[in-house]
Amino acid sequence: MTKIEDNCIRLEFKSLPENVALARVVIASLVSQVDTTLNDLEEIKVAVSEAVSNAIVHGYQNNTTETVIVEGEIKQGILKVSIEDTGIGIENIEEAMTPAFSTSPDRMGLGFVFMKSFMDEVEVFSEPGKGTKVVLTKKLINSGSCALAAN
Ligand SMILES: Nc1ncnc2c1ncn2[C@@H]1O[C@H](COP(=O)(O)OP(=O)(O)OP(=O)(O)O)[C@@H](O)[C@H]1O
Ligand SMILES: [Mg+2]
Repeated sequence: MTKIEDNCIRLEFKSLPENVALARVVIASLVSQVDTTLNDLEEIKVAVSEAVSNAIVHGYQNNTTETVIVEGEIKQGILKVSIEDTGIGIENIEEAMTPAFSTSPDRMGLGFVFMKSFMDEVEVFSEPGKGTKVVLTKKLINSGSCALAAN
């Protein structure tokens, strides 16, 4: 059985579109250290990609010289990932999280829908003109103690 250690990482990178993949791979590597399903891993990768992409596309309006901070933590089998930008912020968080809502006419408005369906919890902290922090939480299925041992 995989031994579960609490772990945490902090990533700081330029707001380049290429770094969406970088962030998702780093978080996937962190999650891979514990016993979790491939399905969970894929879902976490999608959710992280959506949030990082939002930071770059919306928060920084595709300005590639800004900084995105991603922190990942696994504590007692619970994964928490925060994605933070210091960009334009969100005026109305509830509206932004409504399925199919987008401030960009060429986008589907589905990023938050994916984040909510793939993670247990999605928290958004934002202030117009100051930036946005999205915190994604998910219990990693097989990361508790062995099922047999519990009986
Ligand atoms: N980090 C952010 N900074 C500023 N605005 C944001 C940020 N993240 C999301 N938003 C706002 O929330 C809206 C909804 O985001 P969501 O990811 O659901 O859809 P989208 O990015 O518009 O489209 P899609 O993700 O399908 O390409 C965005 O259109 C944008 O207005
Ligand atoms: Mg999006």
